Amino acid sequence: MSSVMVITVDGPVAAGKGLLSWRLAEHFGLNHLDSGMIYRATAARLLDQGDDPTDEAAAAFAAESLEISDLQRSDLRLQSVGQAASVIAALPSVRAALLRMQRRFAAKPPGAVIDGRDIGTVVCPDADVKLFVTAGLDVRAKRRFDELVGRGQSPVLAEITAEIAERDKRDMERETAPLRQAEDAILLDTSELDADQALVAALKIVEQQLKAPAKTSI
Ligand code: DC
Repeated sequence: MSSVMVITVDGPVAAGKGLLSWRLAEHFGLNHLDSGMIYRATAARLLDQGDDPTDEAAAAFAAESLEISDLQRSDLRLQSVGQAASVIAALPSVRAALLRMQRRFAAKPPGAVIDGRDIGTVVCPDADVKLFVTAGLDVRAKRRFDELVGRGQSPVLAEITAEIAERDKRDMERETAPLRQAEDAILLDTSELDADQALVAALKIVEQQLKAPAKTSI
């Protein structure tokens, strides 16, 4: 294990990666990056400018010129921003620009927990521990529904389910860095777990992986 510890947490939308990653980072004293926020912030910049999210040159420029303040915008969690983020995330030049930023973050001592879609497969393939967190579509839709209700919105469950299914499909079927479980990632299904139980299960996996003998390459 290197002096910088990296834990990757990948999985589909609303699987519970965000809170889990934040809590893992707190537990181990590591930095935390929700990589979805940088895709969302890039998309939000584009939407502000009235640019189409499929315009690769405009999207790549927005990604290259992303600033820390963009990550602090209050509108990044909107469904519309998430949908546009999923569209720009399929563009190779956007991913290349954001890849550099994510690797710099991962390399900063003492290390990081990073959650997203391709962190274990592309961004940090040599991470110390890789988790792939998932849950059934209906469970994820209900969680997102409850979250929106909690924020005072009036969502329609069937619409949320359809949007999540559409986003899963786009994230899994894109050519560049699609959402998939890395071969050496451990699967954690949170369908039947609340946030505390998911943390306990994740901590057990991380402790076991850190104790496992280092991989050898010849
Ligand atoms: O995790 P999220 O819902 O905030 O992510 C928004 C979109 O960003 C998601 O639909 C796909 C994209 N994304 C990605 O392609 N790769 C990542 N590492 C993180 C997010």
